[in-house]
Amino acid sequence: MVKTAILGFGVVGSGVAEVLSGSGNGVSRRPDSLIEVKYILDVRKFPDSPFAPLFVDDFSTIESDPEISVVVETIGGMGAALDFTERALKAGKSVVTSNKELVATHGRRLLDLAAEHGVVYLFEASVGGGIPILRPLSECMAANDILEICGILNGTCNYIFTRMVQDGVTFQEALKGAQANGYAEQDPTADVEGYDTCRKLCILSSIAFGWHMLPEQIPTRGITEITQADEAYAAASGCRIKLLGRAVMGQDGKVTAYVEPHFVPMDNPLASVDDVFNAILLKGDATGDVMFYGKGAGKLPTASAVCADVIAAARKLERAGYRPWQANRPECVGSLDDLSSRWYVRLAHGALADAQRLIYGRVDAAERTYITNQSMTRPQMEALLADLPVLAAIRVLD
Ligand code: HSE
Repeated sequence: MVKTAILGFGVVGSGVAEVLSGSGNGVSRRPDSLIEVKYILDVRKFPDSPFAPLFVDDFSTIESDPEISVVVETIGGMGAALDFTERALKAGKSVVTSNKELVATHGRRLLDLAAEHGVVYLFEASVGGGIPILRPLSECMAANDILEICGILNGTCNYIFTRMVQDGVTFQEALKGAQANGYAEQDPTADVEGYDTCRKLCILSSIAFGWHMLPEQIPTRGITEITQADEAYAAASGCRIKLLGRAVMGQDGKVTAYVEPHFVPMDNPLASVDDVFNAILLKGDATGDVMFYGKGAGKLPTASAVCADVIAAARKLERAGYRPWQANRPECVGSLDDLSSRWYVRLAHGALADAQRLIYGRVDAAERTYITNQSMTRPQMEALLADLPVLAAIRVLD
């Protein structure tokens, strides 16, 4: 019997407890995965929970218990989560987490620490919720050079876009729905400003390209400025707006990674990914495009990915870890200013005549919206529109 402790009894932590104890989807009923939850650590009290007898206040109880071989960190953030992760690894316990912020920022150091102590640090749930992606990327695509990652990586943003388009609700109403469903982060700024997508893209890129891509190397724009007018024009021009995390390997071996909302044409499979679903398109030099799809947030999908890692750690798989990555390589980071696209542009009223002179694309006179015919970089587009009252400029995914 492998004994585990869960740190943090929020949406994901409580889901992990349910799944591992068999009161959820029944992992514990499988004969090959005899895993017992021995402790749960949380600063809050849950006297009515069926797990109430398992709660402890002090991490040292877990750290000093030789029976605990796997610790599940679902606290989130970088404070106690980092401290407890380091202490657990140093105490010779494997750590499994859904904490993308911690992995994106300190992943390489924590992987080294785990290796030093003969245990594993696993984080399948940190990207794509319930979608199996890190292990398939590490193992099944190991023979490929990854040429591009392009993904819808935040369930909250995708849920917001879907509700705005399908139900005509405002951004704020849609965000409330995402929070009520347990999709959003504690501070939803991380979702809507794109930081959550940025962290997930760091993790994918680090595994795919073999060196630690840092959050500050990924220019990031969120979705807060998208309006129903933009959504309506996207629909009228055969596109959907999606927040994408993208990392493109250039001919020079540099990787340009960024997070931005995009106009995605309906013939691209990412356009029809709706609601809380995520999708990750990987381009391998041998495989071509491979797409992974599933629920990107929520209690049980995320708990499923955490529990799979607990099982992997518990089985002491020789290769439980993912493809390792080296230290950051600043010289391999490409500049987003060099990446060309077509652009959707929305201008304030009265700017139509000037814009027509400058942009030779499709023009919607009533809405003062445009899609440029020519691909251009953001600096080129901004220079072209310098004197015009631009309300929105969104990249089109070609
Ligand atoms: N807040 C995240 C999302 C949770 O909405 O995708 C899953 O990582």
